Amino acid sequence: MKRIDLKEISVIEKQGWLQHSIAPRPICFASTINAAGEVNLSPFSFFNLFSTNPPVIVFSPSRRVRDNTVKHTLLNVLEVPEVAVNIVDVHMVEQASLASCEYPRSTDEFVKAGFTPVASELIRPPRVAESKVQMECKVLEVKPLGEQGGAGNLVICEVLIMHIAEEILNETGSMIDQRKLHHVARLGGNWYSSVNEQNLFAVEKPNIHLGIGIDQLPENIRNSKILTGNQLGKLANVTSLPDIRASFYDPHIKQIMQYFSANPEEMEYEFHRHAAFLLDQGKVEEAWQVLLM
Ligand SMILES: Cc1cc2nc3c(=O)[nH]c(=O)nc-3n(C[C@H](O)[C@H](O)[C@H](O)COP(=O)(O)O)c2cc1C
Repeated sequence: MKRIDLKEISVIEKQGWLQHSIAPRPICFASTINAAGEVNLSPFSFFNLFSTNPPVIVFSPSRRVRDNTVKHTLLNVLEVPEVAVNIVDVHMVEQASLASCEYPRSTDEFVKAGFTPVASELIRPPRVAESKVQMECKVLEVKPLGEQGGAGNLVICEVLIMHIAEEILNETGSMIDQRKLHHVARLGGNWYSSVNEQNLFAVEKPNIHLGIGIDQLPENIRNSKILTGNQLGKLANVTSLPDIRASFYDPHIKQIMQYFSANPEEMEYEFHRHAAFLLDQGKVEEAWQVLLM
């Protein structure tokens, strides 16, 4: 492993190693206002959800590495502790990037980047009409993390109201359909990633029951040359070691047994390959039956 002591490298290098590693990061579009009523709109990927009750999100406008100046967003929330946090999706990412240009404080990035301001209900900063999720937030605390260039300033916000576009809801309107909110995220350098139906996948929540754990898998399965960590994870998420089902039938198994009957090692190899195929299709029970043979 390459070893990096963060105390021995430059701020730019730290930024690079950390931002390439801690990724993808969701992007919030923070709309703020100063005491004079001038509006500012900027994207931030040092952003996440930290508590649901109370509902708390945090984003961080950093001190500029170049000249240690602070961002208008930070000055604004210190003057008016309110922010409309809007989720950036793939349809607005280029415009959001444009809004990150260092325009003078008096410049309204809604106008520069071509977004539509919509009046908030409880706070003064406007929301971004084009964003599918808009949150009206009260700033609870601003916590500076340092005084040098690159130091973050945690803007800790309580979400008061969420406004969600009907078009991204599921059929009953009871929740966001994750396939319809095309999140975009920031990685290192100029890299971004986007979420769509093709790259989304589900992992069953393990905390409803206790999975047996990798350590309880039979040795030949645990040390398989074929099964990956993800596939072992699926197998080990069962609550008890399954029993062999006499009624289990799989034509492929019959073929493997006939073809490799003289070579048990190769037979096991083929069983594991077939189990891996079934696991990738989400057929955990069937995969177990194959492996138990
Ligand atoms: C997608 C994206 C994410 C960004 N994330 C951050 C961030 O988390 N923190 C930060 O300080 N700057 C971030 N920036 C840069 C700021 O948006 C940029 O410095 C902007 O000019 C700040 O505007 P302001 O001075 O009007 O507040 C990001 C830029 C882009 C395009």
